[in-house]
Amino acid sequence: MLRIAVLGVGRIGRMHAANIAAHPRASLAGVFDVNEAAATEIAESLATVKFAAAEDAFASPEVDAVLIASSTATHADFIEMGVAAGKPVLCEKPIDLSLERVDACAAKIAGTSVPIMLGFVRRFDIGHRAVKQAIESGRIGELHQLVITSRDPGMAPDAYIEVSGGIFRDMTIHDFDLARYFLGEEIATVTATGSRLVNPALMERCGDYDTVTITMATASGKQCLITNSRRAVYGYDQRVEAFGSAGMITTDNKPLDNTRFHGAGLTGQAPALLDFFIERYDDAFAAVIGEFVDAAEQGRAPEVGFADGREALVLAEAALKSIAEGRTVSTSEIG
Ligand SMILES: NC(=O)c1ccc[n+]([C@@H]2O[C@H](COP(=O)([O-])OP(=O)(O)OC[C@H]3O[C@@H](n4cnc5c(N)ncnc54)[C@H](O)[C@@H]3O)[C@@H](O)[C@H]2O)c1
Repeated sequence: MLRIAVLGVGRIGRMHAANIAAHPRASLAGVFDVNEAAATEIAESLATVKFAAAEDAFASPEVDAVLIASSTATHADFIEMGVAAGKPVLCEKPIDLSLERVDACAAKIAGTSVPIMLGFVRRFDIGHRAVKQAIESGRIGELHQLVITSRDPGMAPDAYIEVSGGIFRDMTIHDFDLARYFLGEEIATVTATGSRLVNPALMERCGDYDTVTITMATASGKQCLITNSRRAVYGYDQRVEAFGSAGMITTDNKPLDNTRFHGAGLTGQAPALLDFFIERYDDAFAAVIGEFVDAAEQGRAPEVGFADGREALVLAEAALKSIAEGRTVSTSEIG
């Protein structure tokens, strides 16, 4: 039984805590949140203990591993504390908003054999796994082009956007990771376009964008197109298309159910899409915990780790530089 403590039980931490409690070879060893009411609520509902401080979770002999789902600014410190304590860490994305802080963290934990996993959940989606399998098995031949569409159902609250680090570090970071996962080789160039079409006043104030398109290429010429919007009125839009020399494979959105309505003047009307990421990636979030438990038990590197978190952030920085300078940016220029 792997005893896992959860730091941060907000929107995503409470979902992870429940998934840990439901895993057959894991148990929830306790929770800590600076918001005491949230910690009390989750400790009571999941019948676990509440730590008085994060340090207590890392020091506790009753804790084998730690899941970090607190606010982004805490991640790098908590990763360092986990490694110092010799406890495997599963950390939500991003490692930090600053590449300098990520590199300082990397230097501090260099050479560690403590498993560190990044919560890039989309790699664990069953449809995305099937696309990866089709690429690796050669079913679509040589991969030539990848198209990733990722649109949120609606703008997050202003307060969230203001501290999010911007769309590339907060939202596209998932798509950057997915692109690397599918392409199977590092991305050499990034060209980005950013617009303020959904909430121009907020975006202007934050120096952010709500509508972005990114084109990327690997050194061997494989291409990837990512489109993001902070608001799709029809719901959480998550699709992937992988096109190769021998075919194409796509994954589509997940509707609430698989019915189709046909009536006068109308055929094939599908239900609304699952809203939002916790529902759409429900199975994938459970699989993230499964991979973390397996890696921690086996003392091996998880399928997605610290270096993947850093590379996704490099792509975010390249996209920002591309917009700022109005040109294609080589990833070798970053960091
Ligand atoms: N993988 C994904 O799809 C995904 C989705 C959403 C959020 N995230 C990431 O997860 C993290 C949390 O996001 P959220 O949406 O749950 O935010 P949230 O604001 O709902 O929850 C964050 C929680 O962390 C707590 N916290 C802040 N500082 C803390 C500290 N020092 N120690 C312990 N707890 C602390 C807050 O009180 C809050 O309860 C962010 O880094 C975010 O980028 C990942």
